[in-house]
Amino acid sequence: MASAIRMRTNHEPDLRFTALSQPQHHDVHTDRPTVLVVDFGAQYAQLIARRVRELKVYSEIVPHRITAEEVAERKPAAIILSGGPKSVHVEGAPSLDPAIYELGVPVLGICYGAQLIGQQLGGVVGRGMQGEYGRARMTRTGPSLLLPDDAPAEHDVWMSHFDGVTEAPAGFTVSATTPGAPVAVLENDERRIYGVQFHPEVVHSPHGMAVMARFLHERAGIAADWEMSSVIDEQVESIRERVGTDRVICGLSGGVDSSVAAALVHKAIGHQLTCIYVDTGLMRKGESAQVVETFRRNLGIELIHVDAGWRFFDALEGVTEPEAKRKAIGEQFIRVFEENTGGLTDAKWLVQGTLYSDLIESGGTDGTASVIKSHHNVGGLPDDMSLELIEPLRELFKDEVRKLGSELGLPDEMVWRQPFPGPGLGVRIIGEVTPERVALLQEADAIVREELHLAGLEREIWQSFAVLADIRSVGVMGDERTYGHPIIIRAVTSDDAMTADWARIPYDVLETMSQRIINEVPGINRVAYDITSKPPGTIEWE
Ligand code: XMP
Repeated sequence: MASAIRMRTNHEPDLRFTALSQPQHHDVHTDRPTVLVVDFGAQYAQLIARRVRELKVYSEIVPHRITAEEVAERKPAAIILSGGPKSVHVEGAPSLDPAIYELGVPVLGICYGAQLIGQQLGGVVGRGMQGEYGRARMTRTGPSLLLPDDAPAEHDVWMSHFDGVTEAPAGFTVSATTPGAPVAVLENDERRIYGVQFHPEVVHSPHGMAVMARFLHERAGIAADWEMSSVIDEQVESIRERVGTDRVICGLSGGVDSSVAAALVHKAIGHQLTCIYVDTGLMRKGESAQVVETFRRNLGIELIHVDAGWRFFDALEGVTEPEAKRKAIGEQFIRVFEENTGGLTDAKWLVQGTLYSDLIESGGTDGTASVIKSHHNVGGLPDDMSLELIEPLRELFKDEVRKLGSELGLPDEMVWRQPFPGPGLGVRIIGEVTPERVALLQEADAIVREELHLAGLEREIWQSFAVLADIRSVGVMGDERTYGHPIIIRAVTSDDAMTADWARIPYDVLETMSQRIINEVPGINRVAYDITSKPPGTIEWE
């Protein structure tokens, strides 16, 4: 993920920073048509926002507590109400400022969002209905301005609900039903308010994208003209405007996010940007050399390379508790960073490669999602900072950042690099982190990634790595009894690290990895494959 300076630390830095309150909408221009996706507390909102962008319309996610005045101020071209985990009947269920319906902005409610429309505009939402989960057969019951004309009169949609609208509000027509949802689609074209009980954003609703396209392009009249390149132009212009002639610094982790953020800022302000790469000694095999070389060669960016491994190992001596490790690493990082930015006393800005998913995992744009680990989030910055933040990627998803990187001309080796945590191999070594153990893990990790590369599986896999466990087991090699450590292989597929599944790596590839690790890495006598998804596991082990 992005730079490790996001790691949380208790250390009070000498360098004073002034953290800006989020979200920073001044980062983006408001004159392009924007769809606001209202988040009702599940992860559906993200997928919806992404689908809207796939339809070439810019979208942003907003919390459900947004008021009608706030919406009006942002002049959205349309609003989409997302699904949510609750029932509208539950006490404290998230709601929407009803004045939003009066703004004349086209609204599409999805699942929970459709039920809210039903409830708030005077219809009836049934209680204790049977519900539908998964595929359902939907039948059209009349003409529709929302459903695609070429969708068959009966087709499959993806459902996930127990409650549902049973009576549409006055002025609405019901244009489709399913066995468990008498009002599967409701429409009021005069007010341009629509609701669908099914999930058009998932691939299992084969006509779902066409429904969203019809809503956006026809009902709301938004042109399909948003491109990733417009993000570049807008950001470049906005960064230039904000920064003026000031100096800017950026902590590089070598990961995709900080690289793309740095490239974008470099495009905007050139030599006013200085990057700092702190080598924590906890990087993957050969990584530091590669990072420095790639940045100087490909980006021509002024780069300060700080080789600080020994300091990190000193700080980690005897530390075994995961959070304590993260804090120790985070604290060192900030110190090293401060010391090396000491010469840049005139710097006023700090670039961060924060992504949308980082904001969510840090408690959400709404502050309601729970924080899972104390590090890889916006909370990782010192509370008190005198540098103002530039976060040009904060509205983007990982795959969008990769596209942006390619558009900026970054090489594949950089754009397709797997996310790597700020605390590096420190959170992949269970127990104490020592230089010897890091060296051992680096070898095993290199084998895992090399074999996936040879098998052509690299791009399908979100992250793949080795974990060194602090346990020992008995084995036999040659005629000798061994008593060594195991390596655990972790490989996951994911879209954005919010959820992940263990990768179905072919057995023969796993076998080669296992054989090579045991033969080539001294002290390892066993290899296990982690078959835990996220949730309930996390991607990293600590
Ligand atoms: P988890 O382990 O929470 O990780 O499922 C989700 C994603 O975040 C990465 N990660 C980090 N990134 N600093 C970062 O910049 C960190 O401290 C950190 N910890 C985890 C992890 O590799 C995965 O992609």
